[in-house]
Amino acid sequence: MSTTDASIYVEGNYAPVSEEVTLTDLPVVGQIPEELEGRLLRIGPNPIDSVDMENHHWFLGDGMVHGLRLQGGKAEWYRNRYVGSKRTVELLGKPEAGLVEGDIGPNTNVIGHAGSTFAIVEAGGKPVELTYELETIRDNGFGDSLLNGYTAHPKYDPLTGEMHALCYSWPGLVDQLQYVVVGPEGTMTKTVSITAPTMPMVHDMALTQKYAVVMDLPVAVDFDLAIAGSSFPLRWFNDYNARVGLLPRDAEDESSIVWCEIDPCYAFHPLNSFDTPDGKVIIDICVYKSIFDSDRNGPFRDSLPWLERWTVDPATSRVHREVLDEDTQEFPRVAGRVLNQEHRYGYTAGVVLDGRDNVNFDATHKHDFVNKTRETHDHGAGRQAGEPVFVSRKGATDEDDGWIITTVFDSNENRSDVVILNAGDIAGDPAATIQLPVRIPHGFHGNWVRDEVTPPPA
Ligand SMILES: [Fe+2]
Repeated sequence: MSTTDASIYVEGNYAPVSEEVTLTDLPVVGQIPEELEGRLLRIGPNPIDSVDMENHHWFLGDGMVHGLRLQGGKAEWYRNRYVGSKRTVELLGKPEAGLVEGDIGPNTNVIGHAGSTFAIVEAGGKPVELTYELETIRDNGFGDSLLNGYTAHPKYDPLTGEMHALCYSWPGLVDQLQYVVVGPEGTMTKTVSITAPTMPMVHDMALTQKYAVVMDLPVAVDFDLAIAGSSFPLRWFNDYNARVGLLPRDAEDESSIVWCEIDPCYAFHPLNSFDTPDGKVIIDICVYKSIFDSDRNGPFRDSLPWLERWTVDPATSRVHREVLDEDTQEFPRVAGRVLNQEHRYGYTAGVVLDGRDNVNFDATHKHDFVNKTRETHDHGAGRQAGEPVFVSRKGATDEDDGWIITTVFDSNENRSDVVILNAGDIAGDPAATIQLPVRIPHGFHGNWVRDEVTPPPA
């Protein structure tokens, strides 16, 4: 049973904000690059009402999406909106036109694909389509072809325009995972079932040009917790048969998957992955010793994540683990142009204990995996950065020619900035800092969605 409570996950900048706002005339320090036309979108849990401290889990707060619209070197607007759900209708009096299936609106990632904006979540939730201005439209399982829910971490392939995903669902998919491909037009083109009798929590996946990579690691559904009505029936299992599966992307069924043994650990997020010329798969990834063991209210009190390189060898059915950076860090990202191909650079958010056994994020790191170096942007005392989102410069030929955009919570002033760093000079002064009068809570994920991908209304 839990030996902790949820208090650290609802205090400080984990605490929800109480209002939906629309703000214009935002102060800017520096110069926003004029070619940035689109929205920085970000999402996280924002509980509408008070939580049960013993049983609440950070992952179960009502979803709230935040957006900052940039155009022509200006910050046009910031707005935040709850994702529509039964609870937002009941508790906030939102219009039922925005009603979606789930009790809790998706809270884990927000993406643009095929002209639409989607809030997404794992474990059975359907994607929820949002307007350009972040109002909820409806559940949209890719033309209603998605039967069993989606994931928060589809892997976009810039070479094909497809989104590849591994989905699990409790109780919709009792003993299997589903590998789902959505085409560039926004409809499902492929589904492959993968037997997984332990019902593992498969938060994310890795993708290479040859393989969809399945991470079956020791966090899974505990049937006793589920039967007892736990809102979060997932926990760490000792003596688990941890394994990584390589499923060929062109497979029509699971018969050709190669399972490779790995020493027990957990990982939410690969940074990137790629095939090697000798048939192996490289995955750079943030790794925890364990999660959801003693701390069943969130991920951080059992262990904190560091950065590893996994070499998956289908010839030996083994995964070799190597520590790349033992300092604690999460939310790894790469440039979109090298997704699922060999990368040189990667970007992460530092993870730190704040002295009260609470976990915060601090610096923005840039890793050079060729020179084996790390550069860091220190955002200043009391300032905590979120996930670093990489945006390539138009026409860029160098992998790190672009910007890193991140939200930064300023605990001194109890509000947030959006900071645009020059990726080639990450330790230097930001290109621009857009100052918000409000706070963006520590949440999960976000993306820069170009107007070319999801255009504004005419
Ligand atoms: Fe995630």
